[in-house]
Amino acid sequence: MTVGANEYEVGGVRLKRPFRIRRLGHFQFMSENMRDSLHFYQRLLGFRLSDTLELSGRLPAEWRTPLKLAELGDTKIYFNRHGSDHHSFVLGSARVRRLLRNDKAKVTVSQIAWQVGSLREVAQGHSWFDSKGIELFRSGRDKPGSNWHSYIWDPDGHTNEIFYGIDQIGWQGASKPFQLYKNIAALPDLPHVSDYHEVHEAAAAGIELGGGYRTEILDAASYDVGGVLLAQPFKVVGIGPIRMLVRDMAKALVFYRDILGLRVTEEVLWKGHRCVFLRANTEHHSMALYPESIRADLGLDARTMNLSFAVRVGDYRQLRDAIAFLIDRGVQIRQLPAELSPGIAYSAFAIDPDGHLVQLYHQMDQIGWDGQPRRTAIRPPAEHAAWPDTLDDTPDQFCGEQYLGPVG
Ligand SMILES: [Fe+2]
Repeated sequence: MTVGANEYEVGGVRLKRPFRIRRLGHFQFMSENMRDSLHFYQRLLGFRLSDTLELSGRLPAEWRTPLKLAELGDTKIYFNRHGSDHHSFVLGSARVRRLLRNDKAKVTVSQIAWQVGSLREVAQGHSWFDSKGIELFRSGRDKPGSNWHSYIWDPDGHTNEIFYGIDQIGWQGASKPFQLYKNIAALPDLPHVSDYHEVHEAAAAGIELGGGYRTEILDAASYDVGGVLLAQPFKVVGIGPIRMLVRDMAKALVFYRDILGLRVTEEVLWKGHRCVFLRANTEHHSMALYPESIRADLGLDARTMNLSFAVRVGDYRQLRDAIAFLIDRGVQIRQLPAELSPGIAYSAFAIDPDGHLVQLYHQMDQIGWDGQPRRTAIRPPAEHAAWPDTLDDTPDQFCGEQYLGPVG
């Protein structure tokens, strides 16, 4: 609802746009090597498969022959989760993607997905994007996952999404049966019936509610993680921040700060490169933007505009164990200058089979009522080469977004 010139009411609060992003929800990489990437993200990092979606039927006709399909390899999208959200990390084939979409150069990232607070915020956000002349890529309801969404592109061609209402996977570990999904390629008139109501109607129509996918991957669980046996000596309890290289910082800031409404926490000038850190909630940053010119100074992979995708593990002990576990399995680990991850004292970057960097960390500074980051003078020295056995407590240690439910 518009309440004044350029003001919108969201839940009784006047905002500059008709939605407020609450957190990063999910993220997608496109892979040139699906088999090794699935192994890396599922068997090594512990993401659990919630559903797959076959894309071969959408390919151009000349690619739908048995010979051509064999040449392409795996044509499915893999939806994976670390918690109860139906998906938090998605993996798709880069080769299939190139046939389906004319991406800009070096786009290996899709679905930078931001959760907003309500279905109304998605619907109003969609109309607002439209009114600002922003190209809308897709709107409606996801299948699988059921989240209502509106997709737009950032200036470098990466899809961003505002969404509400992703399916939660419960104690049975099973996804919603595909018969419950409807093809909905538009946002509904509001108000809409609740999810509970929809499931009730499906059950009444005779659909078997227990028929959804449940992954059969069950690796030997021999590591004690907080008193629970898991297949890795750590548990991913959160995703983000995402770090992106951008071709034009001013344009990127218009998109992430002014259009999506992420708040700038801090800027860092590193070797003359202006780096900007933005947050969605109380974390120091969930999105970081770096000029593409930083690539050469850091020796980054030339095939992608992504600098890194981060996974947060349960605690400092798990972080150290995770790095040792990955090194033991032949994963290359590298460090980047600590100034490029302000608010994170301890982290390391694992290199995935496509050369993407996956930042592992356990704790990030939290931003309080005044919206200000911790002053540099009272930041602990970021000496990544020498990690102590144990850490001092800090006011925001163990604070921020919490993981809900059992770890495995
Ligand atoms: Fe999505």
